[in-house]
Amino acid sequence: MIFNIRSQKSQWSSLDGSKRSGCAKRHHRRTWYTRTSTMFVVALLVFLLMSATQFILPTNPPYPDLPQHAPCSDDPQGYVLEDMGICTNTCGKICFPRVHGLCFHHTKVVLCDGQPPLPEHIIQASSGLPSIMRFYMEKPRMKVPVVHKACPGWNSSTLRPTGMNSARWIKGLQMVADLTLMPTGKVGPNPHHEAEKVVPAILFSQLSEFRNSSLYWFANPNDPLMISKWSLGLLDVFSKDLKVEYMPPVGKEEPPVCFEDAILFAGLTNSGYMPNVETHDWFRNRILEHCNVPITKANMPVRDVVIVHRPNSSRNIRNYEAVKNRLEAELQVPVKMAVPGPWSFCNQVKLVAEADIVLTPHGSQNANLLVVRPGSSIFEVFPLLYYIDWYKHYLHAGAVNFYELFGTWPLENGSMPLLMRLQALLYGWKNCFSVRHCMNYGKSREIYVDLDRLESLLETLIGKCRIPVQHSTCSKKST
Ligand SMILES: *[C@@H]1O[C@H](CO)[C@@H](O)[C@H](O)[C@H]1NC(C)=O
Ligand SMILES: *[C@@H]1O[C@H](CO)[C@@H](O)[C@H](O)[C@H]1NC(C)=O
Ligand SMILES: *[C@@H]1O[C@H](CO)[C@@H](O)[C@H](O)[C@H]1NC(C)=O
Ligand SMILES: *[C@@H]1O[C@H](CO)[C@@H](O)[C@H](O)[C@H]1NC(C)=O
Repeated sequence: MIFNIRSQKSQWSSLDGSKRSGCAKRHHRRTWYTRTSTMFVVALLVFLLMSATQFILPTNPPYPDLPQHAPCSDDPQGYVLEDMGICTNTCGKICFPRVHGLCFHHTKVVLCDGQPPLPEHIIQASSGLPSIMRFYMEKPRMKVPVVHKACPGWNSSTLRPTGMNSARWIKGLQMVADLTLMPTGKVGPNPHHEAEKVVPAILFSQLSEFRNSSLYWFANPNDPLMISKWSLGLLDVFSKDLKVEYMPPVGKEEPPVCFEDAILFAGLTNSGYMPNVETHDWFRNRILEHCNVPITKANMPVRDVVIVHRPNSSRNIRNYEAVKNRLEAELQVPVKMAVPGPWSFCNQVKLVAEADIVLTPHGSQNANLLVVRPGSSIFEVFPLLYYIDWYKHYLHAGAVNFYELFGTWPLENGSMPLLMRLQALLYGWKNCFSVRHCMNYGKSREIYVDLDRLESLLETLIGKCRIPVQHSTCSKKST
């Protein structure tokens, strides 16, 4: 619309500059000129009026037109250890960098001299080597710069530690993690960002090259605000496979702690850790056995439906009752509330492992969704203007049906809040996530499920027998 006006304007100014000849012609031109300017004014008024109405009337914000990322496909080969990283070819490829010679000091992390540069394909599929790492020292998540330098007792041509030196060297291939992206303090632990380190470490422990490897984690397992019960419980399930050494941060006067060869978990990933369905099944079944949950597929017709709800948190579903009523009407079964909490690991697992359908707000509690039954359906609801495809990647090999629902705003209050509309107009769903203040705005919105959208999605899925419900013609056929 705005472009139409601009092009009219430019036509107009070029007319203005053209030479004029003859009275009749001039008169003709003037009429034309008046008509054009009237049309322009009318168009402008219509445009302004429409913009104004947009602010007054509760019209829907445009739905996201999101960029298409590389799809997640199964990689039967799984992770392959390379000289400078470990990669799997799924979700557009995912890698974790490998470092030869790495020393942790109190004030810096050193990538020892002689380090070959990371190849482009590893940089592309990871967040590359970090420029800072985080440790619980003078401050809870103190930033420590990562630099290239000489390391004590490091031979930069053989890339091996030599005999005598002042550092404590840990030899062989190891896995090393810090506190990057792990909030501490009031926010509490974040299972999703912990899973970013812990889940791949568990998977790597199954490879022959990692037979002698441990996960060295600069974190304190006894601080409930640092690591969640969920992650500690998960590590406990796999304690025979993966040894974890919790490391205290290096003190002021202490010699550095150095690693000869380390896979580094210190960056943001796209969450596509599971290379294939077989690996996901192995992972899920080990957890379910540990927690005494029967290993079954989703019921047909659906029987167990849960809404993940955090009544005392901002990341909850504000129109919970209405969503529950719609689900019950469409699926013809009672809906249970699943409250993720600081419960024991297995009690958290059971909340979603015993469901055929899970509707959940976006949030780090969804790390737990790795355990849902094959054949189940998951609906992830986003706050308005906030979207990230993490859990889509996370569950890609889980043999589940995954649906995303874009949040709306409290329709009962009439028009969309002004600030929200401004962000919607300026950035929209597509760009909001990459603009910090918009991302934080979207992230802090309460979640309202668009009920009409939910209903039409459910009706489509039920109609196509993707969700089998009681008394429908599909469930009769399938039983
Ligand atoms: C590094 O190792 C090479 C090969 O073993 C050796 O020739 C060289 O002297 C070593 N350098 C240092 C500084 O120890
Ligand atoms: C593990 O350690 C043993 C004993 O030190 C060694 O013989 C073996 O080669 C190591 N395996 C790997 C994969 O590094
Ligand atoms: C929410 O907070 C209320 C009041 O503080 C409390 O009674 C209730 O148990 C809390 N619910 C959950 C699920 O934590
Ligand atoms: C919507 O209206 C209710 C009732 O007037 C009010 O309590 C609530 O804060 C409003 N919500 C928003 C997001 O404006």
